Amino acid sequence: MTSEHTLGDEALLNLLTTNDTNVIDELHSTARKVTDRWHGRIVKTRGLIEISNYCHNNCYYCGIRAGNANVQRYRLTHDEIMQCSLAGATLGFNTFVLQGGEDLQHSTEWVERVVADIRSAHPTAAITLSLGERTKDDYKRWYDAGANRYLLRHETANPKHYAKLHPKQMSWQRRIDCLHALKDIGYETGTGIMVGSPFQTINDIILDLRLMERFRPEMIGIGPYVSHHDTPFADKPNGSVELTLRLISILRLMHPQANIPATTSLGTLATDGRLLGVEAGANVVMPNLSPLNVRKAYSLYDGKICTDLEAAESRRLLAQQFAEKGYELD
Ligand code: 5AD
Repeated sequence: MTSEHTLGDEALLNLLTTNDTNVIDELHSTARKVTDRWHGRIVKTRGLIEISNYCHNNCYYCGIRAGNANVQRYRLTHDEIMQCSLAGATLGFNTFVLQGGEDLQHSTEWVERVVADIRSAHPTAAITLSLGERTKDDYKRWYDAGANRYLLRHETANPKHYAKLHPKQMSWQRRIDCLHALKDIGYETGTGIMVGSPFQTINDIILDLRLMERFRPEMIGIGPYVSHHDTPFADKPNGSVELTLRLISILRLMHPQANIPATTSLGTLATDGRLLGVEAGANVVMPNLSPLNVRKAYSLYDGKICTDLEAAESRRLLAQQFAEKGYELD
C-alpha cells in the first residue's frame, strides 16, 4: 500500500465520527471512483450455499449458537450441495461459497469429498469455504481438494472485546492463528467484523482497520450487527447502516483491489442496503442458493432478507436494481 492511502488514527476517528455531510459524501464518491478504477461498474456475484446450521460454538450474538434450542437444525447432504451448485451454475454463478456453523459432523474427509466433487463438476469455478475454525491440516486438505478461498471474520481486533462477544472456550488468538494458517496455505483469505456489535467502541474499529491493514485480506466482509431474539444479546441495538457504509468506503480506499461484499445484513437493515453498499465502494453480492426449505433455519439474526425468494428471482431483482444505477451483475 502506498502512503497516500494511509490515514492516521486521528483522521480515521474524524471520518468515523464527523457529522459533516460534505465530508461523508466526498468519502463515498472517492471510494466509488477507486472501485470503478479497479473493478469497473461490475458487481461480482457469489452463490451462497448454507450447508449446515449445526454449531458447537455459543457466540452471544448469533442465532444459530449451540445454546439456542429453538433452531430447527439441518445439514445438507452431499447430493443436495451438488444440486445447489449445479442450479447455481445454470444461473451463471461461477463462485460457490459453502458456509456453515462449526458442525462437528463435518469430518475432514466429508468436506474434502464435497470440495473435490464441486471442483470436478465446475473446473473453472472459485470455491470459497466459510466453515469456521479448523486445524491447519484440514484447511490444507480442502485447499488441495480444490478450494481457493476462505472467509473467517476476525470479529474484533481487540481481545478484550472478543471476550465480551464469545464464551471463554473461544480464543481470539486461535482465530488469528487460523487466519494466518489460511494465508500461509495459499487461500485468498477474507476477514471482517460486524459494525456496531455490542460493546464495540470507535477505538476498536480503528484497531480493526489496522489489523486488516497489516493482514492484507483479499476479501473483507463487514455488515451491521443485527440482533436475534433468541440470543443473550436480544436486547442490544442494531448496528448503524450509515457507519457500515463509511467503513466500506474507508476499507475500499485502504484496499483498492479487495473484494468487498455488500452484505445481506446491510440489505436487511435498509431497503436497497446492498445498492447503498455498492455505491459506497462494495463490489460483490452473495445471493442465496440454499434450498428454500432451509433458508429460514439459517438465521444468524432477525429479519434476514431473501428467505423466500428463488435464487433466479433474487438474482433478477438485484440485477434490475443495480442496472438502474448503472451497475451490471457479472
Ligand atoms: N448480526 C450480524 N452479523 C452476524 N454474524 C453472526 N451473527 C450476526 C448478527 N447477529 C456474522 C458474523 C459471522 C458471520 C458469518 O455472520 O460476523 O462471522
